[in-house]
Amino acid sequence: MASQTLIPVVDLTEAQAVAELARLAEEIAGHDLRYHREDAPVISDADYDALKRRNLAIEARFPYLKRADSPSETVGAAVSEKFEKIRHRVPMLSLDNAFSDDDVRDFAARIRRFLKLGEETPLRLTAEPKIDGLSLSLRYEDGELVHAATRGDGATGENVTANAKTIADIPHRLNGQPPAVMEVRGEVYMTKQDFAELNARQEAAGKQTYVNPRNTAAGSLRQLDASITAARPLKFFAYAWGEVSEMPADTQMGMVRAFADFGFEINPLMAVHDRIEKLLEHYHDIEMQRGELAYDIDGVVYKVDDLKLQERLGFVSRSPRWAIAHKFPAEKAMTTLEAIDIQVGRTGAITPVARLEAVTVGGVVVENATLHNAEEIERLGVMIGDTVIVQRAGDVIPQVLGFVEEKRPADAQAFEFPTVCPCDLKTPIMRELNASGEESVVRRCSGEFACPFQRKEHLKHFVSRRAFDIEGLGDKQIEYFFDDEGGLEIRTPADIFTLAERDKGALAKLKNRDGYGEVSAQKLFDAIEERRTIPLERLIYALGIRHVGESTARTLARSYGTWAAFETVALKIAEGDEAAREEMDALEDIGDAVIDSLARYFNEPHNRAMVEALVGQLTVEEAERPATDTALSGKTIVFTGSLERMSRDEAKAMAERFGAKASGSVSKKTDLVVAGPGAGSKLAKAQEFGIEVIDEDEWFRRVEAL
Ligand code: IVH
Repeated sequence: MASQTLIPVVDLTEAQAVAELARLAEEIAGHDLRYHREDAPVISDADYDALKRRNLAIEARFPYLKRADSPSETVGAAVSEKFEKIRHRVPMLSLDNAFSDDDVRDFAARIRRFLKLGEETPLRLTAEPKIDGLSLSLRYEDGELVHAATRGDGATGENVTANAKTIADIPHRLNGQPPAVMEVRGEVYMTKQDFAELNARQEAAGKQTYVNPRNTAAGSLRQLDASITAARPLKFFAYAWGEVSEMPADTQMGMVRAFADFGFEINPLMAVHDRIEKLLEHYHDIEMQRGELAYDIDGVVYKVDDLKLQERLGFVSRSPRWAIAHKFPAEKAMTTLEAIDIQVGRTGAITPVARLEAVTVGGVVVENATLHNAEEIERLGVMIGDTVIVQRAGDVIPQVLGFVEEKRPADAQAFEFPTVCPCDLKTPIMRELNASGEESVVRRCSGEFACPFQRKEHLKHFVSRRAFDIEGLGDKQIEYFFDDEGGLEIRTPADIFTLAERDKGALAKLKNRDGYGEVSAQKLFDAIEERRTIPLERLIYALGIRHVGESTARTLARSYGTWAAFETVALKIAEGDEAAREEMDALEDIGDAVIDSLARYFNEPHNRAMVEALVGQLTVEEAERPATDTALSGKTIVFTGSLERMSRDEAKAMAERFGAKASGSVSKKTDLVVAGPGAGSKLAKAQEFGIEVIDEDEWFRRVEAL
């Protein structure tokens, strides 16, 4: 580089600056290309950085001369440490799974029951390959791509617009007359061949190779530097949608055809059939072709074709009732069982884990598999040293199916299930009693918060993606801080939020520790700070109370609205208050298991203190209450008599969708009774109490008017 002949930035004339900026833009773009696309840089990193710095210095002196294609804006510039978040206007959901033809028949039967469709009424479903990639939501306004977001947790994704724009299959402008707002969703993937070629290039360059096309596609899309994405051959199939201002079609198939007209690639193997047996034939056809397809698929997705029916069917938790993924059978492989370790989970559950000699199963390297419990080890009859058969299905933890008798070595060892927890406390391992008083197969360490394994697992759950999601604080870091003795220990959730403060007086500040520096330490403190304000549902979920998963946490948050309201009820329940218990019992999907577990949790002084300390550190955001503005919200409705246009389940789901509660019995608190033919005592009671009674048609009219 002829850097010595460069004119110092302070001495540049305006004309010279214009010429320099143009030269730098071109030169840097050329290096970016060689570096990312061809993996063959021609200058050192230091020289490259010098070019970028000079460009920045000139732009700082002449801001008005900054080019539209400035290298400081586009390629290589680490402008932000992570992606901006985008809230999905319509959540991105996941799919329920079916593993056999019978599961699919059950799925169709469930739909028929829910919709009250007789056997003779045709039920039209689409069938299409389930692409093994990652989903992406593309928002178009007036036909222009305005942003692209990853699925994220389904509610909020990452803004990857710049990256998505580098994918040839994604139009920047839609063809034809698209609706004013059109969110198109689909799958980003990499073909098997492109993946193999990319790996060959990586290998030739002495770089790390990738595991499978899906992970590579995901990694490629989530590059902060869009030029890296541009250099990766990604593709896109459109198959779903989010917010749409005017629907271009009234069927699933029609929507997908509309996507094709807008300029998207759609999967050519998508079909539509009226009969389940035809769909299953299509599934088996696709299964046969699987190996020859250009891209990886892991099953077939069925969807109800009629969008009006989709709407009536609605959702359960995170998946639609109107769709299901029929997965291909799991792949299997043989390897050696080297050892069995004991893992202690968050709730103290003791799980034996098989440590295996590394083996590739369906494209993924497997080294561990679950053995579930002592009974499973006994049932399988495996011994350490055995050759075992392992199976992996999708993202599920691999399983051991059995061992090969002829290959058992003479020195194979039987495994003895421990009677005490592997932690230092050596707490006894107990078997729980189930509802009928029998010993359950699950063994637990009774140490609870005294057991360091359980505390660590609680903390890992607390910071996990669907809970507090603290960037830079994952499993590995929790292990590190948990064991710290220099003033930076994290032993309870509240400790996380005092870390930065304690760092000031720590023996060895974080920035001076191995693996950290000034920047990374500050980044961690900032990430923690960012989560000091947290939505109520995440906080409840993060506490890791047994039986309180994400969906239950959401229900609780939406029902109680604020932390104070939720805690008051939880404490009342812990004290045995029957009224509070009943109130909670009335909530959707919440029953005795959840309530007992909350009672147990809040009854424990240690837990209460832990929660108090934590909440004292936080600002908890109130939860959005569902549809409080509809005429039905907060109402208690009773459906009685025989309903003709909907099943009782659908009626209940409809009521809930509009913020009302469906109840089984009429009382003075009932607001509305929907009565079909043959209604008896409930109708009489409603009349006696002077409660409004309407028929099914009127119910539909009112709902449609909302
Ligand atoms: S439909 C509301 N169709 O599978 C349902 N999903 O397990 C929206 N996927 O997150 C999804 N191919 O990433 C649908 N043809 C297809 C798909 C597909 C792959 C993925 C998608 C989704 C996941 C759900």
